[in-house]
Amino acid sequence: MIEVEYQQARLQLQPNESVLEALERGGHKIPNSCRKGLCHACLMQTGGAVPAAAQQGLNESQCQQGYFLACSCYPRESLSVSLPARDSLLQAVVQNKRMLNQTVLELTLQAAVRWQPGQNVLLWKNTLLGRPYSIASHSLRDGCLVLHILLHRHGQLSRWCHEQLQVGATVALSPPDGNCTYDIQDAQKPLLLVAASTGLAPVYGIVQEALARGHRAAIDLYAVAEQAEDLYLRAELAQLAQQYPQLNYYPVIQRGADATALVGDAADLIARRHPALRGSKVYLCGTPQVVEALHKRCFLAGANRADIVTDPFVTGHEP
Ligand code: FES
Repeated sequence: MIEVEYQQARLQLQPNESVLEALERGGHKIPNSCRKGLCHACLMQTGGAVPAAAQQGLNESQCQQGYFLACSCYPRESLSVSLPARDSLLQAVVQNKRMLNQTVLELTLQAAVRWQPGQNVLLWKNTLLGRPYSIASHSLRDGCLVLHILLHRHGQLSRWCHEQLQVGATVALSPPDGNCTYDIQDAQKPLLLVAASTGLAPVYGIVQEALARGHRAAIDLYAVAEQAEDLYLRAELAQLAQQYPQLNYYPVIQRGADATALVGDAADLIARRHPALRGSKVYLCGTPQVVEALHKRCFLAGANRADIVTDPFVTGHEP
């Protein structure tokens, strides 16, 4: 019999039940978002042993401190678990809000913390409702933390950001995390970056970082959207490509027509246009399905597994 102990209550785990599911069944409210081990909203802590899958994506220090993801934790022995202390959260002040298209909000935050473009933060509305967002800016160069927030029809957090969050308000953030970032050791490698939807946030940050650090090899950036009106930052990216000849910017739409965009399935298109990726560094940001399909094609085209950085995120999950 495997049990989970939380706040002096003990719950017996049912077969194939995660720690998150067991705690929810017991009436506990545990923060969560993707429920797929991607966003880290369900981070908990234990002194016991958890399977490796429950710590996938966490850094070494987090693993050593017993942090784990409750949604991906199917323990083989009983555990006593707790939520991380709220004092690990940062305070940030909303500096600006700007719509990048009809559904994507650029949220600019002032926070006393360092980060690298492409890392992500969890943005909290309250103790239970937090969502992960990738960072499109640089802490030293830009000074402010910039997030791209796609409005989901039933998204509690995205709707709150779009409609209620005011400039000047203070919000809570989990510390920046993640390794989807530019590495100066890749300065000689061609870069291929494919961003679907708001996957453009980390990619935009990474490209600007690469250019600021003098990346000379070719940079191919594909921004993929369902249809032309979903594309955003087109003018900024086109201008950047004019300024830096090593940068090629390709807007891609899956359906419809647009004289200045490529049309078609992103994975097919990349496979066709980049048949030989040996020696390239590849960044893939979008939904898990898109990222997985692209990863397969890039690997088959010769990209080294270690040179493919992925940042999958779940959209439209918010209940
Ligand atoms: S809810 Fe567990 S990682 Fe997202």
